Amino acid sequence: MTATLTLITGADKGIGFETAMALAKLGQHVLLGSRHQDQGQQAVDKIRQAGYDAELVILDVTKQSDIDRAKATIDEKYGYLDVLINNAGIALDNHENAETLSTNVIRTEFDVNFFGTVSMIQAFIPLLKKSKSAKIINVSSNMGSLGLASDPNSRFYNVSSLGYQSSKAAVNFATITFAKELKDTHITVNSVNPGWTATSFGGRDVSQPVPQGMQSVHQGAQQIIKLASDPANELNGTFTENEGTLPW
Ligand SMILES: NC(=O)c1ccc[n+]([C@@H]2O[C@H](COP(=O)([O-])OP(=O)(O)OC[C@H]3O[C@@H](n4cnc5c(N)ncnc54)[C@H](OP(=O)(O)O)[C@@H]3O)[C@@H](O)[C@H]2O)c1
Repeated sequence: MTATLTLITGADKGIGFETAMALAKLGQHVLLGSRHQDQGQQAVDKIRQAGYDAELVILDVTKQSDIDRAKATIDEKYGYLDVLINNAGIALDNHENAETLSTNVIRTEFDVNFFGTVSMIQAFIPLLKKSKSAKIINVSSNMGSLGLASDPNSRFYNVSSLGYQSSKAAVNFATITFAKELKDTHITVNSVNPGWTATSFGGRDVSQPVPQGMQSVHQGAQQIIKLASDPANELNGTFTENEGTLPW
């Protein structure tokens, strides 16, 4: 049987790398996306040294030329793709007031989080259509939930990171739109919230103690791994986390 072929963006560290290692352990052939040759190759080597299968794909999701090249390379070598995990993401507006937040910062966040995700989906749909059972998993955030942000009883009610939050809300909209548009194909599209996770995300210093309530990287990757390895592949157009379903 051929191994499931899985492309993960931003997979040289953090939740993306944890997901790559776990899916490789489960027997998937991981195409590990990274913007950097050295950092990406080191991540691939770690997976190979552990005895599993992975290969490097140089990919900056804000560069259409990188996306086109990655697509052409995967098309030529394999001719299909089973799982696309849009994990690459950034957060630059660390709880700054929306009143003064630079729109350039917001644009940069949208470039990676939203336009990067949409560009990847558009580019890879033809290869996903050639798989027998394909998945698009968009790594979103509870910070992007409109339901939670507008609920006075939610801990997100008083959170304000307009660029990051709106870019992830837009990712969720892309999930809904593509899930509907592709519903008559065998491609499913879902959003996942990893939860607050101990990576270097948002510039966090990983050498610092892990604050109370922050999950391990292992925990943060679990729902992505669960969906990516689910043989049934029946969920479509959902927004979930380890604990269940989230409001959009
Ligand atoms: N950690 C959390 O608390 C948390 C909570 C909710 C959601 N998330 C989401 O989880 C995902 C993974 O985050 P993480 O915590 O693992 O953060 P991370 O450790 O900072 O990893 C982010 C990854 O994205 C890559 N990346 C950034 N810009 C990119 C671009 N233009 N093209 C391709 N790759 C790019 C980074 O590569 P470089 O090394 O090149 O920068 C890195 O590999 C993100 O989408 C984030 O929004 C995280």
